[in-house]
Amino acid sequence: MTSAGSTAADTDWDALRAVARDAMSHAYAPYSGYPVGVAALVDDGRTVSGCNVENASYGLGLCAECGLVSELQRTGGGRLTHFTCVDGDGEILVPCGRCRQLLYEFGGPGLLLETPAGILPLSEMLPQAFGPQHLTK
Ligand code: THU
Repeated sequence: MTSAGSTAADTDWDALRAVARDAMSHAYAPYSGYPVGVAALVDDGRTVSGCNVENASYGLGLCAECGLVSELQRTGGGRLTHFTCVDGDGEILVPCGRCRQLLYEFGGPGLLLETPAGILPLSEMLPQAFGPQHLTK
């Protein structure tokens, strides 16, 4: 089941990965040739997704996670609870460092990530994260 508040064990990671793979199929990655797709569950039961969108001005390329957090905000906000990322073969991929920070903003340390090393909290993928809490003390 994929309802809000579900644990790593009772989450349908296969279904979430299928959403990420579908998103990956929409990637625009003509320069790197490296399409990426991501998907996440939101604490109200929504699912959001994204794909990378590159640019002829290479440095302006958008990671798939940028699209995901944009969709999250556009469709009502909320907190990310479960996240997965896949490469062009549909295999599980770790999010890049910058994107771990993007995810931290909307999921915090407890966000569960599907990684090649298993299901891990974001706190293990981005230790001692800088975040909103630093700006309010
Ligand atoms: N990429 C993502 O979309 N997300 C990641 O977390 C890793 C990297 C994209 C950026 C670029 O379009 C391509 O993968 C190759 O780096």
